Amino acid sequence: MKNYIKADEWNIIEEDFDPHLNKISESLFSIGNGRMGQRANFEETYSGETLQGNYVAGVYYPDKTRVGWWKNGYPEYFAKVLNAANWIGLEIDIEGGLLDLFTCKVSNFKRVLNMKEGTLSRIFTAELKSGKIIQVEAIRFCSIAEDELAALHYKITAVNFDGNINITSFIDGDVRNQDANYEEKFWTEIKKEQGEDTDYLVLRTKKTEFDVCTASHTTIIYNDIKQNLKPVSKEKYVGKSAVIHAKQGSAVHIYKIAANLSSQNYDKEELLFTAKVKVERAVVQGFDQLLKAQTEAWAMKWKESDIIIEGDVKAQQAIRFNIFQLNQTYTGKDARLNIGPKGFTGEKYGGSTYWDTEAYCIPFYLSTAPEIVAKNLLVYRYKQLDKAIENAEKLGFKTGAALYPMVTMNGEECHNEWEITFEEIHRNGAIAFAIYNYTRYTGDENYLAQYGLEVLIGIARFWKQRVNWSADKQKYVMLGVTGPNEYENNINNNWYTNKLAAWCLKYTIEAASVVKLQEPEKYNAILEKTKLREQSEFEDWTAIVNQMYYPYDEKEGVFLQQDGFMDKEQILVKDLPAQDRPLNQKWSWDRILRSCFIKQADVLQGMYFFEDEYDLETLRKNFVFYESRTVHESSLSPCVHSILAAKLSDEEKAYEFYLRTARLDLDDYNNDTEDGLHITSMAGTWMSIVEGFAGMRVRNHQLSFSPFLPKAWNAFSFSIGFRGVQLKVKITATQVWILNNSAGALEISIFNQLYNVPPGEKVIDYKKQLA
Ligand code: BGC
Repeated sequence: MKNYIKADEWNIIEEDFDPHLNKISESLFSIGNGRMGQRANFEETYSGETLQGNYVAGVYYPDKTRVGWWKNGYPEYFAKVLNAANWIGLEIDIEGGLLDLFTCKVSNFKRVLNMKEGTLSRIFTAELKSGKIIQVEAIRFCSIAEDELAALHYKITAVNFDGNINITSFIDGDVRNQDANYEEKFWTEIKKEQGEDTDYLVLRTKKTEFDVCTASHTTIIYNDIKQNLKPVSKEKYVGKSAVIHAKQGSAVHIYKIAANLSSQNYDKEELLFTAKVKVERAVVQGFDQLLKAQTEAWAMKWKESDIIIEGDVKAQQAIRFNIFQLNQTYTGKDARLNIGPKGFTGEKYGGSTYWDTEAYCIPFYLSTAPEIVAKNLLVYRYKQLDKAIENAEKLGFKTGAALYPMVTMNGEECHNEWEITFEEIHRNGAIAFAIYNYTRYTGDENYLAQYGLEVLIGIARFWKQRVNWSADKQKYVMLGVTGPNEYENNINNNWYTNKLAAWCLKYTIEAASVVKLQEPEKYNAILEKTKLREQSEFEDWTAIVNQMYYPYDEKEGVFLQQDGFMDKEQILVKDLPAQDRPLNQKWSWDRILRSCFIKQADVLQGMYFFEDEYDLETLRKNFVFYESRTVHESSLSPCVHSILAAKLSDEEKAYEFYLRTARLDLDDYNNDTEDGLHITSMAGTWMSIVEGFAGMRVRNHQLSFSPFLPKAWNAFSFSIGFRGVQLKVKITATQVWILNNSAGALEISIFNQLYNVPPGEKVIDYKKQLA
């Protein structure tokens, strides 16, 4: 655990430069705009440890699978989002000495991620080996207002000398992914072009043939005079250079306005021309105007999604950091894009889509962004339905059964560990649950007719074929699966997967009847397209729903993780020696598999999804049993525990679990922030506050709350959108304060009592009601 980030409500601040922390800071100070993003690499040369990272959403490379023992059904490749051309590059040479913070003496260093305005800035003083001292002030951003644009301003002041500063501003496309399986480079150069102040580099990805044009316009100003620039270029590299005869105390200003355009959105032939137009327009606007648009766009994002925590600056900083990163990663403008577990902040997980999106991220975007944002995440899966059907066919399923991939970029499976690829099929259920969650929250049942039902039918058909009838149990069973708990594989009757499968079948039948009633013509078209044999298939599905086997332990009175779970030696996490944790680093895999320790919420994940089916006593028993056996070695786990603990009125536990994710990256809890941020678990932190502490739910088309205030806080408030209405909700120790910004009244339930909330403010004393 580290503790070097200064507490501040709106900023992430690092003071003093420590090269050992640099890769962590590169992740923490990452910036992005949903279309592109980058780690907080330095603009200037850095010869110390660094993970260079610039990413363009949706542009990936199918890296040939590397695996020890090939199994039929494995995908041929793992699609990874690519490290793309680095547009921020500046080489600063001061009379033969390179500015490089690894070799210079650095003082007054401060790096700030301004979350309110969406900028990354840095100031520092550097003394070169020659004794020459310069001061640098730099600021940059990826524009969230115009997501193909980015810009930087870099100011160098000669502190103690008169002399030549040789500046090269460049785009470098000769980059590689650190996680490349065969150390290949994934880009080839297609074209480059240079104007007086502009540089354009068009690169093409091998195999997938995406073209990306990275463009940059450089302006160097000294003594108010714009300097003449000299073009420089080599393979996959273009830039401009200038020599400034700097006087002591005077400053050189470098401005770069950059664009990244990809052939996903433009004809390849037009890419360079379109980039030119974009950059020229942006140059007319100028850096200050682009920055103003950035600030305004972020103000809008914060209006929709901010959470304010009163009385705890570190908690305030943490939740804003989580919200900021989620908003930088996905903006919902393009249904071909999704949310990689590390977003644009690192290479781990390949930038691909996991079940994390549906299980954890959807609630955040549903509440904090216009409906279309969450909808586009669902449409992403709809567009990949054919591939999910193909994927299932490859594994031997038939007649339109769909198995969505565990890891994907374009709908094809990328993952190749049999116990995950073939067995972690619960992901299919999360995709169906997200459809339910979306319609429950938005009331947009039309989605079912438009897209949802087809996906549900494919998923239902998969479950139908995946279960089998056990003559012994006289029940349907599901064999050879891995639940969310990856610490045991190839198990039979994982309670969560069985539950989810039966729920999917039931929900698909319900969704079908909604569509049939509301849009009969569309329904018939779906029947025809999917060749659904309504009566017989529904009968089969209903039989499974009614006769699914759910492992249960009578003695403990809990749903059982899986068949045979009680045969394991039942040790509790509290009895594990501290030096054994985390298990995945300290124990052999074999020992983990045989132990009763659970990696992440599994039975409890199901009880969270389907909470209305269980009374508090059932929940309490299961919570106590599983919480004491769960090691939370996935960052996705604590949020579910936090929400359920809140529901059980265990306020301390709810807060304790919240703390485990809130500052996970800021304090580098797991010693892995340098690989990138845990973007998808950040949504879980948001859920812990809104669904946990505030107890927000949507039931019968109404918002309901059952709040409590964590002891460490004075109050907390959050902004949400619900069915076209923008609301602000503030929770204090005794009251719920609601600001209804719409023209009409809303019915809101607090601890199951209905209140009419007219436009404007309303205060409800919940403690009195509880008393
Ligand atoms: C978790 C998975 C998750 C993946 C990506 C793994 O450690 O066990 O549930 O999908 O990380 O976040």
